[in-house]
Amino acid sequence: MTIRELAINEWDKVASLIFHSTNQWYLKKLNRGCFPGEDPSICRIFPEVYEKLDPGCCLVAEIDGEFAGSCFYHPRETHVSLGIMNANPKFSGQGVARNLLDRIIQRAGTKPVRLVSSALNLDSYSLYTRAGFRPLAIYQDMFLPAGKPLPPPSERIRPATLNDIPALMNLEEQISGIRREKDWRYFLSDDTGVWRGLICENEEQITGALFSINHPGSRMLGPGIMVDEDSAFDLITAHLNHQGQDSLIFLVPAAASHLVNRLYSLGARNCEIHLSQVRGETQEPAGIVMPTFMPETG
Ligand SMILES: CC(C)(COP(=O)(O)OP(=O)(O)OC[C@H]1O[C@@H](n2cnc3c(N)ncnc32)[C@H](O)[C@@H]1OP(=O)(O)O)[C@@H](O)C(=O)NCCC(=O)NCCS
Repeated sequence: MTIRELAINEWDKVASLIFHSTNQWYLKKLNRGCFPGEDPSICRIFPEVYEKLDPGCCLVAEIDGEFAGSCFYHPRETHVSLGIMNANPKFSGQGVARNLLDRIIQRAGTKPVRLVSSALNLDSYSLYTRAGFRPLAIYQDMFLPAGKPLPPPSERIRPATLNDIPALMNLEEQISGIRREKDWRYFLSDDTGVWRGLICENEEQITGALFSINHPGSRMLGPGIMVDEDSAFDLITAHLNHQGQDSLIFLVPAAASHLVNRLYSLGARNCEIHLSQVRGETQEPAGIVMPTFMPETG
C-alpha cells in the first residue's frame, strides 16, 4: 500500500470515492444512502473547499495502482482536524483507513487531533478509538420537517462580518479551547454564496455564532459556538427561517436538554447520532458547540 498526497487532477476521482464508499456503507449497514442522487460530482465540494483551505492536505492510499482510500486533514493553531475519511469497499478491512490515520497523526506531531464520527458507524468508531481517540461529546443530528411553523427571527440576530473574527476566535477559545482563524476567515470571505454566518448578541456582546452551508453535497448548519442554549435556539431558527427547512441538518449537543426540547416542540426529528472525538489534550466544552462535517472539527 502506498500513501501519497492527492494530485490536483484527481478531484473527480476522490469525489467518486467519497460518494460511492459512503453511500455503499450506509446502504449496507443502515439501509439508506448518505449523499443524494446518482451523480458523484456533488462530492467535488470536499476537494474544492478543502484544497482551497488547506492545499496538499489530502492523503490517498493506493493498492496495486488503484485508489484504495482518502482522508483530508486541516492543521490549525491549536489542533489538527480530520475528515472526511473513506476506504474503497473493495479494500475494506485491509488497514487502508488505519494507514491513512497513522500518517495524519504522525503529521500532527504534538497537536491534538479532532474529528466528528458517526455513532452508528462501528467501523469508524473502532478505527478511531483503537488509535487513541476518545469521545468528547454526543450530538444528535436533527432536522425540521418541511411545513413546521417557526418562531419569527429574534432581534438579537445579525449577519456575521469579517470584523467579528477576533471576537469569534475568543469565544471559541473560551468555549472549546481551540483557535482556527482560517476557517472563520474562509466562511466570511467566500464569494460563492454557499456559506452564511449569523451572530447573536446582547448589548453588543456576542453570545453566539452559527454558520451554514447550502450546497447539493452538503446542506447543514454549523460550525456554531454559543454561550447558552437560548442563543443556540435563536441562531438555529434564524437560519431555518432564511434557508428553508428541507433536508437541512444540524448537530445539537445531546446534553443541552433545554435546547433539544425546544427543538422537539417545533417538531424537529433525529436522523443520526455523532460523537466528537479527540486524541490528545483538550478541555470539556464550556458552552454550546455545534460541529459540522465541513470542515469537521469536533
Ligand atoms: C470506516 C472506514 C473508513 C474504515 O476503513 P477500513 O480501511 O475498512 O478500516 P481498517 O481496515 O483500517 O480498520 C480499522 C480498524 O478498526 C478495527 N475494527 C473494525 N471493526 C472493529 C470492531 N467491531 N471492534 C474493534 N475493532 C474494530 C480494525 O481491526 C482496524 O484496527 P487495527 O488496524 O488496529 O486492527 C470505511 O468503512 C469507510 O470508508 N466507510 C464509509 C465512509 C465512512 O464511514 N467514513 C468515516 C466517516 S467518520
